[in-house]
Amino acid sequence: MKVLVCGGAGYIGSHTCVTLLERGYDVLIFDSLVNSSELTVERISTLGGAKARFVRGDIRDRDALDAVMSVGIDAVFHFAGLKTVGESYENPLTYFENNIAGTITLLQAMQAAGVKKLVFSSSATVYGDPERMPIAEDAALRVKNPYGRTKLVMEQLIGELCDADPAFSAILLRYFNPAGAHPSGHLGEDPGGTPSNLVPYVAQVAAGLHDHLSIFGHDYPTHDGTGVRDYIHVMDLADAHVKALGIMDHGGCMAMNLGTGRGYSVLDVVEAFEHASGRPVPYQFVERRAGDVAEAWADPSLAERTLGWRARFGLPRMCEDAWRWQSAHPYGYR
Ligand SMILES: NC(=O)c1ccc[n+]([C@@H]2O[C@H](COP(=O)([O-])OP(=O)(O)OC[C@H]3O[C@@H](n4cnc5c(N)ncnc54)[C@H](O)[C@@H]3O)[C@@H](O)[C@H]2O)c1
Repeated sequence: MKVLVCGGAGYIGSHTCVTLLERGYDVLIFDSLVNSSELTVERISTLGGAKARFVRGDIRDRDALDAVMSVGIDAVFHFAGLKTVGESYENPLTYFENNIAGTITLLQAMQAAGVKKLVFSSSATVYGDPERMPIAEDAALRVKNPYGRTKLVMEQLIGELCDADPAFSAILLRYFNPAGAHPSGHLGEDPGGTPSNLVPYVAQVAAGLHDHLSIFGHDYPTHDGTGVRDYIHVMDLADAHVKALGIMDHGGCMAMNLGTGRGYSVLDVVEAFEHASGRPVPYQFVERRAGDVAEAWADPSLAERTLGWRARFGLPRMCEDAWRWQSAHPYGYR
């Protein structure tokens, strides 16, 4: 089976490509490298034990997509997108254009080539400030920032395409908080600057690249006052993506949470990382950050029932793997 992985050189896409190669899929990566490096592609092939093909291109470029689709693609993974909430407040149009316009162009190219299977990277950010925990897929969708808006709009337009074409199958995977790295330590998250996610930031503090971690708010109604999230190992995400491909003949559009079902606070993460790395992670409390919610964790039971998938790795293992990657590659792929 030949799969096109848009955004496959990025953090989650690269780990998924390794798993796809290990399980015998023919992988073609299409990525603009706006937030990744071609070095990743070499590592994917080495770790996956087979060669992944790579085409540098942008999902907003219809001609480039038509060219890659012409090799005969069976299914598409769509990881390509901009993902930083803060940046999306500053440049919402850039986010709408890259994420939404890019997705429309990708869907048009798929339709023209008769490719009818799509696994889409969505996010728990579509739930905004949820009313209840754990969060199930039927919770209200109340996005709180422009990035989240792009995810919600993309989900909706993929859903409407499925309504219009009953032969089109899509799975919208709503990730909670991806963390960790490939167990080899040779593939991981490369934020390309100051990380906006907690675990890579904590890893850089442990490595001495920053003096301390700023913790946004310590007066949330949680067990220790800091924000609680559901962290999910990137290798578990990769496994879920490949399992999703296995059920892609369903027709229609299905949204699915990917999380462990367990929440950890920022201080829990700091403690787990100090344990995994053997290094101190100094921190300071600062004001809450606009748009942050107190807590969010998944009800992952739909993915368990539908995909036969369950997260295998907990927070200690995420921290161990993230530290192995961080200590071997303090400056990412550079
Ligand atoms: N990492 C997270 O915390 C998280 C959480 C929920 C959802 N997601 C979503 O999962 C997907 C993958 O996230 P990630 O963490 O691997 O991000 P990433 O930035 O590491 O990977 C995204 C990849 O897409 C590429 N890309 C971006 N715009 C492109 C375009 N127009 N054309 C071609 N390639 C393009 C980038 O170069 C990069 O390699 C994204 O859509 C993101 O929004 C991520």
